[in-house]
Amino acid sequence: MEKAVKVGLLGLGVVGTGVLEILSDHQEKIRNSIGGPLTVTKALVRPDENKKRLAEKYHVELVTELESILNDPEIAIVVEIIGRIEPAKSYIKQALLAGKHVVTANKDLIAQHGSELAALAQERHCNLYYEASVAGGIPILRTIANSLVADEITEVLGIVNGTTNYMLTKMVQEHQTYEETLVEAQCLGFAESDPTNDVDGIDAAYKMIILSKFAFGMTVTMDQVSIKGIRGLSVADVVTAEQLGYTVKLIGSTIKRTEGIAVEVSPVLVPSAHPLAAIHKEMNAVFIKSSGIGESMYCGPGAGARPTATSIVADLMTIVNKIQLNTIGHCFTAYTQPTKLIPADKIMSKYFLSLEMPDESGQFLKLTQILTRLQVGFEQIVQEKSQSQNARVVLVTHETSATNIGTIEKTISEEKGFTLLSSMKVMGE
Ligand SMILES: NC(=O)c1ccc[n+]([C@@H]2O[C@H](COP(=O)([O-])OP(=O)(O)OC[C@H]3O[C@@H](n4cnc5c(N)ncnc54)[C@H](OP(=O)(O)O)[C@@H]3O)[C@@H](O)[C@H]2O)c1
Repeated sequence: MEKAVKVGLLGLGVVGTGVLEILSDHQEKIRNSIGGPLTVTKALVRPDENKKRLAEKYHVELVTELESILNDPEIAIVVEIIGRIEPAKSYIKQALLAGKHVVTANKDLIAQHGSELAALAQERHCNLYYEASVAGGIPILRTIANSLVADEITEVLGIVNGTTNYMLTKMVQEHQTYEETLVEAQCLGFAESDPTNDVDGIDAAYKMIILSKFAFGMTVTMDQVSIKGIRGLSVADVVTAEQLGYTVKLIGSTIKRTEGIAVEVSPVLVPSAHPLAAIHKEMNAVFIKSSGIGESMYCGPGAGARPTATSIVADLMTIVNKIQLNTIGHCFTAYTQPTKLIPADKIMSKYFLSLEMPDESGQFLKLTQILTRLQVGFEQIVQEKSQSQNARVVLVTHETSATNIGTIEKTISEEKGFTLLSSMKVMGE
């Protein structure tokens, strides 16, 4: 008789429900692939009636004490799907200390405490997997760790936040304002009532930290990531970008040069012909440049109960295979390099600058003098009258450093009558 591998869930919300559905709907294939059944026997919850109905349907015992799962010798794997840092972090540590393998979808936690948890997992000879923490349903971590293991990755560019991609799609395609798209995303359940983590780029930064570890072996902290979100982005700038041949996207990037790596999240003008420009609404995509394969892109749903649960169940099945082969205790990625960051004066890009200035003679000369003084040329310029007595000017600069663009932004903002409306990176062709 086949022995069932038993699983305990910590949290039974959107993703937890998806895990129960996937395990039930695909049970024949799962059983066939790992040589026996994989079943959730217990779930740690804060009880309510809906969870009781769910538990009855899937034959899961609801518990309110973590110990009920940790002290159950039958449970081999614990899935943390509570979210955020505490109590999730303490629960995972306790599970590893109790000798349980752990699967989590928690990007906040893995980005900020992943090294500590991975070290504890190794010490306890347990596995810790977290495929669903980046881009939900896209198997990107496993692809980098396994399929691209022999390749030399130089750039990872991602649309890794579905909420902001949905909002930007609406701004670009329907010329809705930032505020209108945010309300719509909240009504559709894509954005939370407090959208800070999404619109300010924090969620994407967590994912880029995890991708940096997989692609370059380097552990990066939040204060080492340059983060700018889409809050307050104007539809006028999005439309002008479109007229210039670009689509504005919130891009997470981690790039490697001889000096080290640079990790960043910011709105970027993506050339309309670039594959990332075609990723619409809540879809996610990760675009990788590497010396062996060249360019490759992986796209799909970045969230949702079933896509996320599919990644979690794949992690569970990987662990079961490792238990059977007696190869447990290896890290999800073993690639480790000392962290080296590219200095800001070596990070080069073209920039889109949008500003208002008095619609009078001599003002344009002032602008070009600022740029000449700071040794920045420009390759495209658009000028239009704004609703006030000002002119709105948009220009795309030649390549300049992140340090220099900071000085340019400050100088423009300090010039009498000038208002800098936005400054965004422009991706090369
Ligand atoms: N949703 C997605 O599409 C998606 C995609 C990728 C990754 N993730 C990640 O997956 C994780 C779970 O997300 P989710 O969307 O499923 O969140 P969710 O629907 O809010 O579910 C979280 C569940 O955890 C429960 N919980 C919170 N504190 C608890 C505690 N101390 N003890 C027991 N249960 C507790 C909550 O209980 P109550 O019901 O009582 O509040 C809730 O049912 C997060 O780390 C998230 O970032 C989600």
